[in-house]
Amino acid sequence: MTKRFGAKVVLDAVDLTVPVGESLVVLGKSGVGKSVLVKHLIGLLEPDAGSVRVLGDDLWAVPSRRRDELRRRFGMSFQEGALFDSLSVGENIAFPLKRHTKMTKGEVRDRVAECLEAVRLPGMEAKRTSELSGGMRRRVGFARAIALKPEILLFDEPTTGLDPINTDVLVRVITELNHRMNPTMVTITHDLSVAFAVAERVALLDEGRIRADLPPREFETSPDPRVRAFVLGDSSLEDARTAPEEVSP
Ligand SMILES: Nc1ncnc2c1ncn2[C@@H]1O[C@H](COP(=O)(O)OP(=O)(O)OP(=O)(O)O)[C@@H](O)[C@H]1O
Ligand SMILES: [Mg+2]
Repeated sequence: MTKRFGAKVVLDAVDLTVPVGESLVVLGKSGVGKSVLVKHLIGLLEPDAGSVRVLGDDLWAVPSRRRDELRRRFGMSFQEGALFDSLSVGENIAFPLKRHTKMTKGEVRDRVAECLEAVRLPGMEAKRTSELSGGMRRRVGFARAIALKPEILLFDEPTTGLDPINTDVLVRVITELNHRMNPTMVTITHDLSVAFAVAERVALLDEGRIRADLPPREFETSPDPRVRAFVLGDSSLEDARTAPEEVSP
């Protein structure tokens, strides 16, 4: 698919397939179009050319009602967080359940509790979202994203701006979700250590194109100059590897 904003071509005939049950990580520099790509996957943006197929359907060829149905099969945690600040933590997570299911109050309560446990925030239902730290907000966003047990999960920069502890929790939560539910997963990040922790395949988006689409190990050692530049230029990987030695006595 292709997407332009004005004269700027952000996605230039990007061709990408994510097999059911696979965890794909898309890496790329800031501003390269990662968020634009992920917004196409869930049908928040329409490509100028080409198509986006989800579970066999072309998102923009089907009636809008079908598109809405398909969107509901996704759970997405947005880069910006996107919680409702007027609602409590529990109400935020209950929101999609009340809107899209016929679950009873008790069932909603149980599911909300389960989701909060999954993100390591048990018993936080009554908290105001304004009282949360950035990392906790991100985790509540996650809990809401998984509330409907979606088959496809999209995470846009789940750890960006977080301290190492919250980053670690979120990486574990993603890995656990992957093992337990085996969803189709697309994670956007520019952090290589996060990428290698959660990916079964790693793709690099650069200058509008997918430049590499490889298993993590092959990605790391790929001779492709763009991949090399990205891997060598990323200091977070070095940090992730040297950190344990630094803290050891
Ligand atoms: N709705 C929009 N209208 C116009 N331009 C846009 C719009 N959304 C994104 N862009 C432009 O598209 C380009 C890619 O943006 P995008 O947000 O996808 O980058 P990104 O790779 O997610 O960056 P980051 O790592 O900082 O999140 C940028 O130049 C941005 O200004
Ligand atoms: Mg982005």
